[in-house]
Amino acid sequence: MSLLIKGGTIVTHEETFKADILCKDNKIVEIGDINVLPDGVETIDATGKLIMPGGIDPHTHMQLPFMGTVAKDDFASGTAAALAGGTTTIIDFVIPSPQQSLLEAYAQWREWAEKAHSNYSFHVAITWWDDSVAEEMGTLVEKHGVNSFKHFMAYKNAIMATDDILVSSFTRCLELGTVPTVHAENGELVYHLQNKLLAEGMTGPEAHPLSRPPSVEGEAANRAISIANTLGAPIYLVHVSTEEAVDAIRYAKDHGQTVFGEVLAGHLTVDDSVYQNTDWATAAAHVMSPPFRPKQHQDALWKGVQAGTLQTTATDHCAFCAEQKAMGKDNFAMIPNGTAGVEERMMVLWEKGVNAGKITMNEFVALTSSNTAKIFNIYPNKGCIRVGADADLVIWNPKASKTLSAKTHHSKIEHSIFEGMEINGVPETTICNGKLAWHDNVLIAQSGDGQYVDRPVYAPFYESLRKRKELNKPVPVQR
Ligand code: URP
Ligand code: ZN
Ligand code: ZN
Repeated sequence: MSLLIKGGTIVTHEETFKADILCKDNKIVEIGDINVLPDGVETIDATGKLIMPGGIDPHTHMQLPFMGTVAKDDFASGTAAALAGGTTTIIDFVIPSPQQSLLEAYAQWREWAEKAHSNYSFHVAITWWDDSVAEEMGTLVEKHGVNSFKHFMAYKNAIMATDDILVSSFTRCLELGTVPTVHAENGELVYHLQNKLLAEGMTGPEAHPLSRPPSVEGEAANRAISIANTLGAPIYLVHVSTEEAVDAIRYAKDHGQTVFGEVLAGHLTVDDSVYQNTDWATAAAHVMSPPFRPKQHQDALWKGVQAGTLQTTATDHCAFCAEQKAMGKDNFAMIPNGTAGVEERMMVLWEKGVNAGKITMNEFVALTSSNTAKIFNIYPNKGCIRVGADADLVIWNPKASKTLSAKTHHSKIEHSIFEGMEINGVPETTICNGKLAWHDNVLIAQSGDGQYVDRPVYAPFYESLRKRKELNKPVPVQR
């Protein structure tokens, strides 16, 4: 199967140039002025369009069992949405329940993901600890291409990783050469504030952000970074939403620590006024953690993006419909936490980033694809346009427009946090594994076409980290 993309402008994280691209099977085999073609090549005219690496969303939760229900988008609908938005790979999360074998949970998630339309990979969460967990982490690395482990510092009495777990797991991550990642919110403080607010009679969604103020994230971000620093481990903070957390990352990076920060399209563009909506269902539809923040934090996030303090963009796509959100009608702490966005992420970043003059097209590619590929070691197969790379591409029409709406999105839920946003520049064609997957508003990929993406460890980086640990004293703690 061969596919020629003719007449477009290639945009990578490094450069912009005009060239044709020939894909054969699932690889890019030629880049240049291509005129002589073997028979049977399908040609796509990309004149006036931009060709970029397919998006990689490093943070999704398809069909996640969570807070007494299961996220509505499964691996079929969630990855159909991804392709419609130009994203060709998602990195989802295996989340074992406390005491559950990691390998058993991993097998379960792999089975669920067999129906994916796009490519997929998995971080694995560490929700409890004993020697068997350490051993299974090793097996996941060696046999299953897992190179990142997630720690939820929130969700007390469920999946919260306490400091003892963080210390044990980060130490093991350093041994294995894997990236520890954290959801940074102080779970004890959240639990305390939720109970206090409920006791005071605040039961609606407007109490959600009050139970998770910015300091709750700032404390946890500083703590996780300090623990990683003391152990000499790298660390990746998911869904950074506050000025406090951006400051913590910047400070640590300035002092030589290896820290990565991820930001959500939602946190960059939606503010906390959504919780004041008088319609309960609309306010509840925005309940996610960390919550949407006052505008000053959005400014700090954009500056963090521009300064390279935050390197990746994600969605935390974890979709719950109105009926599921209504489980918390009498108690905001029972509203399933999560919002959607895997389809909208790249368009939102294009409109509010590139079109608004905040980032360049090349930075857009870095933020939506290449940086994630590098951090999680799937570059240059992914996140890159070069001969030999995977043929995961998006053809972007900078002249086409669309209005984001739940009426037209592919997610199964009936609301969108981006409802009504006008977008100028849209993904017209998505190519996944060398095949047309989305073209002119039609999903072509079939359920099951998605491939599992192995992510081996990047050994030289970890050797260097271990040496640096011997040479350097830990970074002084931020004041
Ligand atoms: O509210 C959220 N973010 N739900 C999904 C789980 C998580 O914390 O990432
Ligand atoms: Zn989280
Ligand atoms: Zn998440």
